[in-house]
Amino acid sequence: MTTAAPDVAAAASLIGEQLGGCHPRIAIILGSGLGQLADRIERATNIPYADIPGFPSSTVVGHAGRLVAGSIEACDVIALSGRFHLYEGHSAATAGLPVRVAHALGARVLFVSNAAGGVRATLRPGDLMLIDDHINLMWRNPLIGPIVGGDERFPDMSAPYDRELLSILREVALDVGVPVTEGVYAAVLGPSYETPAEVRMLRWMGADAVGMSTIPEVLTARALGMRVAGVSCITNHGAGMTTQPLSHDEVVEIGERVKEPFERLVRGFVARVAD
Ligand code: HPA
Repeated sequence: MTTAAPDVAAAASLIGEQLGGCHPRIAIILGSGLGQLADRIERATNIPYADIPGFPSSTVVGHAGRLVAGSIEACDVIALSGRFHLYEGHSAATAGLPVRVAHALGARVLFVSNAAGGVRATLRPGDLMLIDDHINLMWRNPLIGPIVGGDERFPDMSAPYDRELLSILREVALDVGVPVTEGVYAAVLGPSYETPAEVRMLRWMGADAVGMSTIPEVLTARALGMRVAGVSCITNHGAGMTTQPLSHDEVVEIGERVKEPFERLVRGFVARVAD
């Protein structure tokens, strides 16, 4: 059985009407604390999520909840500032909705970013980690149910993060002088942070970083045949790795610190992909 996705069509048509000559090729999801890039987009059209049919309004501090279309480095992009988290009560399908809309508007590359806790002992707050694989511990999948028209039923996940885009990111990081590391991102449901025992389990499983987002968007993008690249901003040590308790304020504060190198990385990436 296949089904149409009415929310996608309505959202894309409303947004499309406002875009003028902008034809976004790359969709960029901005994680907690990384939203400032949305303000640097040229010839920007800002559309609050509240004005987009089918989009619920986003609630987390540090998430503005708007779509911004325009250009970066002479490439048309669509930035999604604020995302729909499962811990807010959204379904995985809703978390993937902005990706579907960006795809309907023409984007074929998805760049995801997030705030994450460092699970690998050598990661430090402020590190940027290129995501080279993921572990879905949300136990939710946005593709469950009838096939949405155009979706691959059984998306191949042997390289969820496109190898070529990953090597572009590596090269760009060197070119623009932003130190990066690479690793596996594990997503949990949240909203409570992990226990020290859970962090030990994650490390044992092969995770380098842990967060509460991103994977539903990546799964949606893969079902649509989009190529994906992503970066985790390490905002804290995983629970139990220091004596400090975790707080969301810390996550937002580190986001502030990395926003400049993060922006350089994304700009370099967009310029290279647009080439
Ligand atoms: N755990 C889960 N999600 C997070 C963390 C963390 O330590 N830091 C930022 N997002």
